Amino acid sequence: MLLDIVKYGDPVLRQKGERVGEIMPEITQLIDDMVETMHEAHGIGLAAPQVGDKRRVIVVDVVDEDAGPDPVQMANPELLWVSDEMLNQEEGCLSLPEHYAEVERHNAIRVRYLDYQGEIREREVAGVLATCIQHEMDHLDGILFVDLISSLKRNMILRKLSKAKKMAAAPA
Ligand code: NI
Repeated sequence: MLLDIVKYGDPVLRQKGERVGEIMPEITQLIDDMVETMHEAHGIGLAAPQVGDKRRVIVVDVVDEDAGPDPVQMANPELLWVSDEMLNQEEGCLSLPEHYAEVERHNAIRVRYLDYQGEIREREVAGVLATCIQHEMDHLDGILFVDLISSLKRNMILRKLSKAKKMAAAPA
């Protein structure tokens, strides 16, 4: 089922997510819906707060569309290790559509999480997959990529967002 994506300004995006107890059918349903919603929106990652759900669940799929879907699903993700080496990448977010900025993140991470079957897993990843997981994990703590960029660039994006909002509210 496709879910509505919450946009910047909604307080749910600023809340701290709640840990998942165990992977119940209700959670796998949420994960399935999040993957479907992410693919439909042509996004490479989605966190539960972005669909208005406070639980600590993220999905990521950075594979080329040509190669077919390969979603990564994580509940309660935790960073066990991060590389000193950093990576600067242009990021966007489905909750701030059409806005992009370069964000500096760890190039490699080791993450522990509950998988779709409810098993505890550990995985070490690097590059775009690692930066994308860090972006989605930030959502679980109410952090958005615009919090991590220069105030100059942030103000520019926020001004454009509020302008777009006013335009949408104005009568045609
Ligand atoms: Ni995002």
